[in-house]
Amino acid sequence: MRISPFELERLQSLHEHQVEINLAESGVEPLRVSDLLGPHAGNALLDQPLAYTQTNGTAELRAAVAATLPGAADSEVLVNSGGAEANFVACWRLIEPGDEVVVMQPNYGQVAGLAEGFGAIVRPWCLRKQRTGSTLRWAPDLDELRALVSDRTRLVAICNPNNPTGARLTEAEVAVVCELAGRHGAWVLSDEIYRGVEHDGVETPTVWGRTERVIVTGGLSKAYGLPGLRIGWAVSTEDMTASLWSRRDYTTIAPGALGDLLARYALAPGRRRALLERARRITAGNLRIIGDWLDAHESELSWVPPEAGAMAFIRYSHDIGSTALATRLREAEGVLIVPGDHCGLDGHLRIGIGGRPDQLREGLARLDRVLASLPHRMRIPTTDS
Ligand SMILES: Cc1ncc(COP(=O)(O)O)c(C=O)c1O
Repeated sequence: MRISPFELERLQSLHEHQVEINLAESGVEPLRVSDLLGPHAGNALLDQPLAYTQTNGTAELRAAVAATLPGAADSEVLVNSGGAEANFVACWRLIEPGDEVVVMQPNYGQVAGLAEGFGAIVRPWCLRKQRTGSTLRWAPDLDELRALVSDRTRLVAICNPNNPTGARLTEAEVAVVCELAGRHGAWVLSDEIYRGVEHDGVETPTVWGRTERVIVTGGLSKAYGLPGLRIGWAVSTEDMTASLWSRRDYTTIAPGALGDLLARYALAPGRRRALLERARRITAGNLRIIGDWLDAHESELSWVPPEAGAMAFIRYSHDIGSTALATRLREAEGVLIVPGDHCGLDGHLRIGIGGRPDQLREGLARLDRVLASLPHRMRIPTTDS
């Protein structure tokens, strides 16, 4: 199997711990163990045997994950080593050479890259900026989806809320995705790892429970601020979950014992609510900072304010590709951001809004210096993509 480099992850792997200011992160500021466990941190961790745990996740953790989706049961949950492994195992299980896989774009590149690697034909389904009255959003084109999904489609992969745009599909749109896939016997793979960080507090509609053939993936790395735990999950029918579990025997076997323990703490009902509130509080403050900064750059930058997640996806008008711009920012100013072309859409920059406000302010000031040194191409319209 030949597989293209996963550019976004490569960029982060190479640079995130080398730069002065990392604005490439897509989740909220990570917690410390003591933030999660409080004064009992020492005992709980010290008493945990460093054994293999139940390999599909402890029953308690699977029940806690199931409780995040309406009507899900713990037997339908597989705990993975990060959301990335959940997506990997789902793609590995479902995709055969020659299958068609419809993938929402722009997006986190994992599913499209894997699908191509497994020999599928990838059909991009693009979100587009759309203005309705005073509302501007990244909207899905459902007619385009109708034209893309056929009996050859194995999988429709969405990321909801979306990375990098922060767009959130409506209940009606999610229903259409499931109905179309179901009509053609295709699976829906819905990466819902950003669910819970909605800026208006209205939870993103899940695909769970709408059709038999769904796999919901998620995890603790983004909304919960716990990427170092490496805990993610896939939720599907009992049969599919069992099948994913048997594939997982070939990858990482089991979650880390400490990760499973701390994940149980994080997903206990009161704590889960508090963690998601924390994420909304952090991103709300940073949204104001980046919104003010964009107001001062109206003629050269634009955005569709994200509905959810911890990223802002910004359109720029300067005469330079996004990788070249991000490289210049990193090399000249020590700031890491994600170029739009690493998410499938050049002419944009993805800037993390889940971190410390002082770092965001300083990173934007440094980006200002780089932008000021560049020629302009055009004034930018607000509804193109
Ligand atoms: C949409 C999406 N899914 C999955 C992942 C991977 O998550 P994890 O760190 O839990 O493996 C990421 C990481 O950026 C992501 O953005």
